[in-house]
Amino acid sequence: MKTLVFANEKGGVGKTTATYNLAVALVNAGKQVLCIDLDPQGNLSTYMNCEPEEGEITIMELISEAISRKGGCSEDSLNAAVKQNSEGVYCIPSDISLSQADMALAMAFSREKIVKRILSHPFFDECFDYCLIDCPPNLGIVVINALMAADGVIIPVQTKNFALKGLLMLEDAIEQVQQDNTTLTIEAVLLNMVRRNRNSASIEATLKQRYGDLVLSTTIPDLIEADTSTILKRSLVNADRSRLGQLYREAANELLHRMEG
Ligand SMILES: Nc1ncnc2c1ncn2[C@@H]1O[C@H](COP(=O)(O)OP(=O)(O)O)[C@@H](O)[C@H]1O
Ligand SMILES: [Mg+2]
Repeated sequence: MKTLVFANEKGGVGKTTATYNLAVALVNAGKQVLCIDLDPQGNLSTYMNCEPEEGEITIMELISEAISRKGGCSEDSLNAAVKQNSEGVYCIPSDISLSQADMALAMAFSREKIVKRILSHPFFDECFDYCLIDCPPNLGIVVINALMAADGVIIPVQTKNFALKGLLMLEDAIEQVQQDNTTLTIEAVLLNMVRRNRNSASIEATLKQRYGDLVLSTTIPDLIEADTSTILKRSLVNADRSRLGQLYREAANELLHRMEG
């Protein structure tokens, strides 16, 4: 299983939208795909119609179990936590309870590697080709956990002013994590909510200068259909005549080409 983390310290740049639509595109390309919601806001869980019901296992329960149980989570817990949605994507959901993770992790032994410990259970390699992790908009211990467990980072960026400044902090965090997780790489930078104006073009140029070929040649424009899709709780990728759906399919193909040749 290849684990990709969607991270950007800024909120509202399209992390959740990109995570889910790329996941659906990968499913349509024949892959088994797991999404993990690591944001206590639970937007990904809501978008993919996997909101946990009362008493259901969320990523927070798995984190607690992995902290307290020597061998990580039990297979029973993992089976109970993973659900498949109507578009064929598997999900480990989150809810507001995940806001306690910072505190729980702060006191845990080897606290940066709890998510890694969860994902190293053979269950994951047996069941999935890809794991896509949606992160909250910060660089806290939960995001560091995601980076520790990851093979690659996908950075959705909104081509607006101050975009680069946030990315430099993320780059620092990635460099720190790489001292331990030495194979971690930036897999792609995804330009999102791109508008046709001079500011946007100039920021796009700056990002291409810094990240070169890491910037996907498919860029995602700013279109209202993205919002509509979250209201309908259905991907853009499977929506009829969706421009963004088409572009997310193209972005997924670019990624697959990079990762699988
Ligand atoms: N390409 C797009 N064009 C217009 N709106 C978008 C686009 N992508 C996402 N959005 C909207 O922007 C908001 C933030 O997107 P989201 O994916 O939740 O970002 P993040 O996870 O980084 O906070 C959501 O309301 C979403 O529907
Ligand atoms: Mg989000």
